[in-house]
Amino acid sequence: MSVTVRVPAKVNAQLAVGAARPDGFHDLANVFLAVGLYDEVTVTEADELRVTCAGPDAAEVPLDRTNLAARAALALAELHGRSPDVHIHIAKDIPVAGGMAGGSADGAGALVACDALWGTNASRDELLDICAELGSDVPFSLVGGAALGTGRGEKLRPLEVGGTFHWVFAMADGGLSTPAVFREFDRLAEGTEIPEPVASEDLLAALEKGDTAALAAALSNDLQPAALSLRPSLADTLAAGRAAGALAGLVSGSGPTTAFLVADAESAETVAEALRASGTCRSVRTASAPAPGATVL
Ligand code: C5P
Repeated sequence: MSVTVRVPAKVNAQLAVGAARPDGFHDLANVFLAVGLYDEVTVTEADELRVTCAGPDAAEVPLDRTNLAARAALALAELHGRSPDVHIHIAKDIPVAGGMAGGSADGAGALVACDALWGTNASRDELLDICAELGSDVPFSLVGGAALGTGRGEKLRPLEVGGTFHWVFAMADGGLSTPAVFREFDRLAEGTEIPEPVASEDLLAALEKGDTAALAAALSNDLQPAALSLRPSLADTLAAGRAAGALAGLVSGSGPTTAFLVADAESAETVAEALRASGTCRSVRTASAPAPGATVL
């Protein structure tokens, strides 16, 4: 028997970052939006825990126990005092190390899939607790839609979304390490007063109304200067997308994927084509938001 779960990527409509905490993490006001790019995680009974992965970026995915999908299976098995022996296969469509929570998606997907395969029937809260232990973005991969993440991003409040938003994503060559981007944020902020991170009222109102122009005006990412400092060429990608007619462009999370909000599906195709022709990125995808969270197929 096997179970397959589909899990979405995310973009951060707002990523407000506070000062480094004593535990090394940063308090955030993180407005997550799930987008319709998906990984599919399939779990099957096996003699031992193993992970396989297929897809364009599969070679860059770790297949050992550092993979969040393997860690999710181990955590659920331990909680229920059972064996974690399962084959986890990841059909990967979300860019790897791209700032779109692809690894977190696989963690949430494997957790939901193992829970269904094993009949452990964990409550939603139990699943969310395991997700929060696995990583700051993993709880959101489980719930999807739109949510405000506070704390290190793991405390979620669901947000109303009054329409569909169209996005274009430009994938860069190679990934960026999230800890390295946060370290660069700390370095750039040295000697300055960092305000408490708060969600933008204008942004939350734009989401609730489904108002694309207002959302475009309110998008922000405090990690963007750090990502641009580590990868200056991303400025060329941002300029190319804006010149092609995107309403706004920003680095997605810790990058290096760049995200462009566009007026409609037709504009998404135009901007995607221009970005492909610009030579400033590796590949380009279009997707709409919000998308549902982890779903058993
Ligand atoms: O929670 P997660 O394992 O995804 O975080 C990866 C790294 O990103 C952390 O080790 C930390 O360096 C950085 N991070 C942070 N503040 C957050 C989330 C992540 O500094 N709120």
